[in-house]
Amino acid sequence: MSYETQAREQAERLRAAGHATILAIESSCDETAAAVVRDGREVISSVISSQIPLHAMYGGVVPEIASRKHVESVDPVVDEALAKAGMRLEDVDAIAVTYGPGLVGALLIGVSAAKALAFAANKPLIPVNHIEGHVSANYVAHPDLVPPFVCLVASGGHSHIVRVDDYGVYTLLGQTMDDAAGEAFDKAARVLGLPYPGGPLLDKLSREGNPHALTLPHVKTPGRYDYSFSGLKTALINAVHKLRQNGQDVPAADIAASFQYAAVELLSDKAVLAAKESGAKVLALAGGVASNSGLRNTTNDKCQRSGLRLVMPPPILCTDNAAMIGSAGFYRLMRGEIAGMDLNAMPGLRLV
Ligand code: KG4
Ligand code: ZN
Repeated sequence: MSYETQAREQAERLRAAGHATILAIESSCDETAAAVVRDGREVISSVISSQIPLHAMYGGVVPEIASRKHVESVDPVVDEALAKAGMRLEDVDAIAVTYGPGLVGALLIGVSAAKALAFAANKPLIPVNHIEGHVSANYVAHPDLVPPFVCLVASGGHSHIVRVDDYGVYTLLGQTMDDAAGEAFDKAARVLGLPYPGGPLLDKLSREGNPHALTLPHVKTPGRYDYSFSGLKTALINAVHKLRQNGQDVPAADIAASFQYAAVELLSDKAVLAAKESGAKVLALAGGVASNSGLRNTTNDKCQRSGLRLVMPPPILCTDNAAMIGSAGFYRLMRGEIAGMDLNAMPGLRLV
């Protein structure tokens, strides 16, 4: 019997049973990660190997270096995830992998490794969208969470507000017109001389500053739920240059706090508005920027005032990881969405 036939039969059996333990692989950017996840909700093990120190000296992710490091890391990371779960490859039911969006060379490493494992062990291969993975981190963190809900996905490459109508069914409510939220945080951090990725460092620094020291513009966008961050970034850069030209001290903590305040107001205002106006009862946060302390606190306050339940993953599940891919993979498997050995990386893959 061919691999394809066996994998499809196995997928059908798992679907009928409604249970699956999935080995998931993530390599879309600068983290090589693997996890074992049961039934989309329970993380048995999760291993993340970050490449951040390798890229920091270049001020951003260098795709070629990322690919090479993924090649080195993927096997040991998978082995470690299986070992921590106390399992062998034969013990998992299926293999899930991020196939886009992301850096093509980086994605290809994870996709190739997942294909090899699936083929060798005769297991179904499940293709997962990285953005759907971020949304699904909330299923891991909140076992009672079920669609429908509205989700703000804010990461280094994406800023979307989506309505999750059902597992795998999304309606795009808004998105960024230019920079992603995480990109804006990283660029603002760079102006302050913070190393890549500056988002978490800017977050930390901002706790010591005055958020009202600088007034940054609330950028208007044509769509009610759309974002624009490039105006905010330019306003920040101009303000810093002006201070420097005038020979004035640049109070880094005040600038960080002012930027964070403006970005968080923008992100939370629109996400809460979108949730309220679409009749949702729950708003979820996802993506690396969802680990921002200001965004978590401010959105929580606004949700309480609006009678919305706010859910968000713990910070370690907001930034890139494979547990979220294992969760998304489970729901894809339950819908019968598996891939063949012709699965390819799709760097520009969209969620909707
Ligand atoms: O989701 P993620 O790990 O990778 C992508 O899919 O892009 O997001 C990484 C982004 C980076 O831009 C990083 O600076 C930002 O998330 N980030 C933060 C914080 N933690 C991570 N931005 C602001 N505050 C944070 N605490
Ligand atoms: Zn991500």
